[in-house]
Amino acid sequence: MKTILSTISGIISKAFEECGYDPSFGKVSVSNRPDLCEYQCNGAMAAAKQYHKAPFMIADEIVAKLQENDAFSKAESVKPGFINLDLSGSFICGFLSDMEKAENFGCEKEEEPQTIVIDYGGPNVAKPLHIGHLRSAIIGESIKRINRFFGNNVIGDVHLGDWGLQMGLIIEELKDRKPDLPYFDESFTGEYPKEPPFTLSDLEEIYPAASKKAKACKEGTKELTEEAAEFSKRAHLATLMLQQENRGYQALWHHILDLSIPDLKKNYDKLGVSFDIWKAESDAKPFIADMIKDIKDKGLAYESQGALVVDVAESSDQKEIPPLILTKSDGSALYPTTDLATLVDRERTYHPDKVIYVVDKRQEMHFTQVFRAARMAGIVRPETYLTFLGFGTMNGKDGKPFKTRAGGVMRLETLIDEIYTSVFEKSLESEHLGENDDREKVCMMIAMAALKYGDLSNQASKDYIFDIERFSSFDGNSGPYILYNTVRIKTILSKYAAENGNIECRLMPPSSKEEKQLCLTAASFIDAMNDAYANLAPHRICGFLYDLASAFNAFYNSVKILTEPDPEKQQGYIALIDLTKRLLETGMQLLGFAAPERM
Ligand code: ARG
Repeated sequence: MKTILSTISGIISKAFEECGYDPSFGKVSVSNRPDLCEYQCNGAMAAAKQYHKAPFMIADEIVAKLQENDAFSKAESVKPGFINLDLSGSFICGFLSDMEKAENFGCEKEEEPQTIVIDYGGPNVAKPLHIGHLRSAIIGESIKRINRFFGNNVIGDVHLGDWGLQMGLIIEELKDRKPDLPYFDESFTGEYPKEPPFTLSDLEEIYPAASKKAKACKEGTKELTEEAAEFSKRAHLATLMLQQENRGYQALWHHILDLSIPDLKKNYDKLGVSFDIWKAESDAKPFIADMIKDIKDKGLAYESQGALVVDVAESSDQKEIPPLILTKSDGSALYPTTDLATLVDRERTYHPDKVIYVVDKRQEMHFTQVFRAARMAGIVRPETYLTFLGFGTMNGKDGKPFKTRAGGVMRLETLIDEIYTSVFEKSLESEHLGENDDREKVCMMIAMAALKYGDLSNQASKDYIFDIERFSSFDGNSGPYILYNTVRIKTILSKYAAENGNIECRLMPPSSKEEKQLCLTAASFIDAMNDAYANLAPHRICGFLYDLASAFNAFYNSVKILTEPDPEKQQGYIALIDLTKRLLETGMQLLGFAAPERM
């Protein structure tokens, strides 16, 4: 159905047309002076230029036309030529009733659903999930849900990092520690052990140790020590040998995946993030050789300092876009190689209309190169959208990338624990949570809302400051605030139902300023969702939820819902808060969290 803004714009446009003006001047926006009116149209100002008339004359004509229109309780012209509008109670009530009856509360699904692959999460096996991956998971999950809400066929792919240098580093470190393992014995032809020679926590220690070892510098310089240079060389070679299917290394690699993947799944589960497919960088392998041959045959690749590269610069570039490195001089595949070959796979398997990458914005150059090369080589069709949704860094209060108290990289689990603890402590003050409530479960729901809303309420591309206190606060612009108001509505509704049974309540025209504000805010639902969808912008949903929760809160404080003596009026209240609750729940669902029954 039409949004409230386009519905009103339609009425005003018609008035412009009936007065002999171009209807396009009838565009209406939400008032930027809510003290004066609810909506405004500034079209008379623009029309004045075209029709060589004074703007207020045009505004007066339009307003005169609107006097009989029962959509408005007020339509007035204000000098020099603004048109100020207030909706009538019956109109807003009618609009909300239509919304309530419509599927998706009036958000129209795509007539021609698109196939959309969303590449998000992107954890690297054998490395613990850290907060850098948190943003990708949270934002990507929401983008997936929003696109699905609008009727598309969406495939979320975790795109595991399992093919890079980290693998070579782990292999070499392990070799140093346990050189006698059969995996390192070239002449070994028997079966490798079923059990891995390490545990998950060993791995979590092995990788950082190996990475540190490969980066050690001579004192006071940035030059690698001889041992580091040598170790790093070995790790690169091991990576190549793994890619070339060295038997022992492959077996180790399988052990690593077998330990890592269930652990990653557990963590994503906790976060309420789920993927439709668990493909990995290594799944691109079968496509690499043919793809490289094809790129070469097309004359797009050439050798440069031993590496195979593709020029992707365009004459209109404002800054230098360096060539994409397709393979290294030793022939090993790199990050761009697997990303291109993954697109080959995606094109064959899903034939997507769109591929959206939710990745740290510092990788923008990489994706610019990959997208250009994919187009040049015909890996994707010319009409396929390739979208890079780059997100900013999550910083600590000091404005620097978020760290643990000890200064290390913050692990996702630790972060969740910290928020959970903060929420749990607050919950002990709540008199609403009874003995029977599962306090831990409720606190985890609140913690998720705090974390996700705290992240998603910022425009994704911006860096933001992670502030546990603010995020987990029950008032102010926070996830728990949205939950708190939803829970309050649930409580009223169940009390009402307990006293009155399940009677059907109908929406009524609002009878107070606060009630009207709640109606108007609810009516902006479709505008907000359309905007979030069109711009891949979950923060628009957060904005809507905050406005709606605040409008409900103000309404709640202005009336006595459960003791209202007029039953018809009371039913109107109940219907309105019930709709409010369902809109809040729909918005939260799209952001990836939900409200408990009590808190
Ligand atoms: N594993 C990568 C990282 O940790 C992110 C992967 C993003 N997706 C992609 N198709 N490159 O940086």
